[in-house]
Amino acid sequence: MTHASFRVHVDPDRCQGHNRCYSVSPDLFELDDLGMSSEVGAGMVPAGLVSQARLAVANCPEHAISLTEAPEINPKITTEVQP
Ligand code: F3S
Repeated sequence: MTHASFRVHVDPDRCQGHNRCYSVSPDLFELDDLGMSSEVGAGMVPAGLVSQARLAVANCPEHAISLTEAPEINPKITTEVQP
């Protein structure tokens, strides 16, 4: 059985530092010294935080956050495939 996993990403070219993402989901986003956001780590969203990720997407006025769904190939594989 294949499980879906979700990943968030902040587009640094769009982010203007409104910080709403961090307000609704501090576990998924982190802010730099200028208040610009980026996803924590690789942006993987734990199953229990998917609704928070959707809330962050909906609340960013710059549409800077993307939430993508990807099939989980094998949780034991930790290396990423580069394009
Ligand atoms: Fe940036 Fe949008 Fe968050 S502008 S700080 S990604 S709410």
